[in-house]
Amino acid sequence: MIGRLNHVAIAVADLDKASALYRDTLGAVVSAPHDQPAHGVTVVFVELPNTKIELLAPLGASSPIAKFLERNPDGGMHHICYEVDDILAARDRLKANGARVLGDGEPRIGAHGKPVLFLHPKDFNGALVEIEQI
Ligand code: CO
Repeated sequence: MIGRLNHVAIAVADLDKASALYRDTLGAVVSAPHDQPAHGVTVVFVELPNTKIELLAPLGASSPIAKFLERNPDGGMHHICYEVDDILAARDRLKANGARVLGDGEPRIGAHGKPVLFLHPKDFNGALVEIEQI
């Protein structure tokens, strides 16, 4: 059911510092920061030949990654995103297999303008999983 790894998201406290690390130390192609008020984050996209890394910094007071950064002040891997062809079929299959879908279970439009859902980390080996319909 799942296809390609679309991205790995890393929460960071200092986006400029993290961007410089990926650009200058790791030698990657790094985008300008994009504010995404609907998601409470500012994102920098790191383009790799086979996937993307998203550096996420909190935007606004109620950012969903603020608590994560409180627990992980150095930053840390926040979620991984797998591509699916049909997000509703994927959701139904996941639920039928006992996986918990976060929120109200209805896909939201994610950071790339495509429908996404998040799955409970306790059901996936401690990793927050995002699925995105491509
Ligand atoms: Co994501």
